[in-house]
Amino acid sequence: MIKADVGSVAGHTTVHPQQIEVARHFLEEARQRGAISDYHVTHAGDDVELIMTHGMGENHPSIHELAWRCFKEVTEKVSRPLKLYAAGQDLLSEAFSGNIKGMGPGIAELEFTERQSDPVLIFMADKTEPGAWNLPLFKIFADPFNTAGLIIDPKLHEGFGFTVLDVIDNITVELKCPVEMYDLLALIGTPARYVIEKVRRSDGLPAAAASTTRLSLIAGKYVGKDDPVCIIRAQYGLPAAGEVLEAFAFPHLVAGWMRGSHHGPLMPSSVNDLQNRVSRFDGPPRVVGLGFQVSDAKLIGPVDLFADPAFDRTRETASLVADYMRRHGPFMPHRLGPEEMEYTTLPEVLKKLKDRFRKV
Ligand code: 13P
Ligand code: 13P
Ligand code: MG
Ligand code: MG
Repeated sequence: MIKADVGSVAGHTTVHPQQIEVARHFLEEARQRGAISDYHVTHAGDDVELIMTHGMGENHPSIHELAWRCFKEVTEKVSRPLKLYAAGQDLLSEAFSGNIKGMGPGIAELEFTERQSDPVLIFMADKTEPGAWNLPLFKIFADPFNTAGLIIDPKLHEGFGFTVLDVIDNITVELKCPVEMYDLLALIGTPARYVIEKVRRSDGLPAAAASTTRLSLIAGKYVGKDDPVCIIRAQYGLPAAGEVLEAFAFPHLVAGWMRGSHHGPLMPSSVNDLQNRVSRFDGPPRVVGLGFQVSDAKLIGPVDLFADPAFDRTRETASLVADYMRRHGPFMPHRLGPEEMEYTTLPEVLKKLKDRFRKV
């Protein structure tokens, strides 16, 4: 799963259909020559999302380069000629340098041996950051009030291991749930710094992977938010698909709304156009979900996971929370805190006032 914002229509609202077409064409050609097994191209708001299966394992340069070239092509063939907004936004360098991590696009990879039947759910968010998955991933794999299987399926009783990345110091730690649940929560409750990267079942079975890129930390300035993606396997000794989705029934507050500088509720949305345009105050932050069966590396599906009236109440709650948060205007906690604003243009405003402060 590799994604990038390479330009959008009407500000940061949504992609242009030709961008999707060019990306599809590019990956179809790659599939035909055997570079990848299968693919699905979609979007979350203004982010182009490449879902790919292949047999090369994680972190393979040829796969990373394929995605990089795909985003370049979309930029050159569509975003620039149409003067789309922020054309090529997430492509931070000119040439590909061996690994797409750190070059701008977001990436989540999960290598696994197909089970007898392998439901795989893909989540893609817009106007938020990788830490946005912390709360749902915790609920899915560690909270028995969300995931009934943690209690009633003996295969889940040994729990799950979480790999947490400290995005500031670039170090990771493995924590096991339920034994180390409180330690885990002590970290991931700070989603701007500690981000869940991988989840494995206690026997090592790969269960989930999330993207962890924070563009501003790479670029040293605000260059758009790192709208994240996440891959979650379900069923047969893992949480059921419905248990995975249940974690999104609560529209929790995430960072990344408007100029990447505000908190807002994460609204689960259908991937179809009506709900997948991110408009109000450039938001609110959005998550779309697609469900597949992976069968001999083919992607069977997708199912538009949040296109279910059962999520209407969540969307309504998210709208209500959006109203409430918006009334704070420029005040925290709607606006992010000072550490987070360091990477925006706010420091330039403060610099202007520096000489006018008098000692007391
Ligand atoms: P079905 O009986 O519809 O297969 O559902 C199985 C189930 O328990 C889903 O949670
Ligand atoms: P994107 O990261 O989705 O481009 O959003 C930028 C932004 O801050 C819009 O207000
Ligand atoms: Mg954008
Ligand atoms: Mg985006």
